[in-house]
Amino acid sequence: MIPVEPWSPSSWQTKPEAQQIAYDDPAAVEAVVRKLRGLPPLVTSWEIERLKRLLAEAQQGKRFLLQGGDCAEAIDDCQPAVIVNKLKILLQMSLVLIHGGKRPIIRVGRFAGQYAKPRSSPTETKQGLTLPSYFGDLVNRPEFEASARRADPNLMLTGYTHAAMTLNFIRSLSAGGFADLHHPEYWDLSFFERAELPAELRDEYQSTSEKLAEALRFMEALGERPVDDLSRVEFYSSHEGLNLHYESAQTRQVPRRSGHYLLTTHLPWIGERTRDLDGAHVELFRGVENPVGIKLGPSATPDDVLRLLERLNPTDAAGKIVLVTRMGAAKVERALPPLVEGVMRGGRRVLWVCDPMHGNMMVTPGGLKTRSFDDILREIECSFEVHASLGTQLGGVHFELTGDDVTECIGGGLTEADLDRNYLTACDPRLNYRQALEMSFRIARRMAAMRRSGSVSP
Ligand code: PEP
Ligand code: CO
Repeated sequence: MIPVEPWSPSSWQTKPEAQQIAYDDPAAVEAVVRKLRGLPPLVTSWEIERLKRLLAEAQQGKRFLLQGGDCAEAIDDCQPAVIVNKLKILLQMSLVLIHGGKRPIIRVGRFAGQYAKPRSSPTETKQGLTLPSYFGDLVNRPEFEASARRADPNLMLTGYTHAAMTLNFIRSLSAGGFADLHHPEYWDLSFFERAELPAELRDEYQSTSEKLAEALRFMEALGERPVDDLSRVEFYSSHEGLNLHYESAQTRQVPRRSGHYLLTTHLPWIGERTRDLDGAHVELFRGVENPVGIKLGPSATPDDVLRLLERLNPTDAAGKIVLVTRMGAAKVERALPPLVEGVMRGGRRVLWVCDPMHGNMMVTPGGLKTRSFDDILREIECSFEVHASLGTQLGGVHFELTGDDVTECIGGGLTEADLDRNYLTACDPRLNYRQALEMSFRIARRMAAMRRSGSVSP
């Protein structure tokens, strides 16, 4: 046995750091970190512990995780309409999934801090000019100018305040009955007209929401307890824990609990490019009590995964690890089974989640990054099948999506010729409102079919 090295919120600084940010003024970074250390947490340990309990239930097949939001959240998008639209699409997708899967859904947004992006190249060259790549609004700005691309530590404070404002609005909406699931007439159907949904999709949603409300009333008439659980609308936040200055500044102990909590978000995840076992990211995350997501691409081996599980969750605690596989539709059938079998052999408790976005990138002849609705759906369907055939369960889905009518992915109503119309993403292409809702119906149908065939409980 290799002795476990002592951990502290700053021990990551002794490890090699992938995607390290090239700040040019260490004193300014230190000043910002000191400030962030003294500011209140963005989330609480109670919320984190509750999410961990819900994830533990999802690991037993009793709940399903829906995680979604922008690839790169923009600070300028901290606006009421944009936030409301994100919540609406997550809420509406979750209702469709509850109906299909007959399980409560855990709603987790990629928001209130999804401001830092890993990049495949540290620099970008245009017309002979080479500048640092855009690493997300927490680090620098997207405009292709030297001043915008300089890593600015003050953006960590800007990110913190905008994450706080976003969370404040989300909390107020949730607490204020933003969506009372007993009243489908309140779920803002006018929203559908704006989005020009095809009539079948609108009718399908309307009938699903009415059936759900009816079922809730029926269960309440019977005096069943789980009704509250199904009808309470909670949202949790998540983001990639990439900028370790920012994350560690908010990693601390809280009164009357043991251990350290990372308090910028409920569910941080480690990206495909930063999951090196001996790297700085795994070092920070091994010391926190939060549940932690790990992205796994086709190059991940069963040994890599088992070593990461041992490092990040040595006691095999329930609700702690969310494995987010992102293999690509063409590779998932071959790449996923060895990982699932490895984790089973190791007797490890995890929640298996499919990210069908990051393995399915394409570039159009015109140079736009896009993804196809069909590939995305195919990766999810294939993941359901792989898990069912191995006796495990796909316990969640992870999307890049938006509640707005962007034109970034093809299929589900859009062709390649439409992409130019409203292509807004600062990073990867997202499903638009209609595509996301349609995706949830396809998944719900699959879940319902699996229930009927008895391949999943209940
Ligand atoms: C992302 O989720 O935006 C991302 C960069 O994913 P991955 O680490 O899986 O490539
Ligand atoms: Co992305």
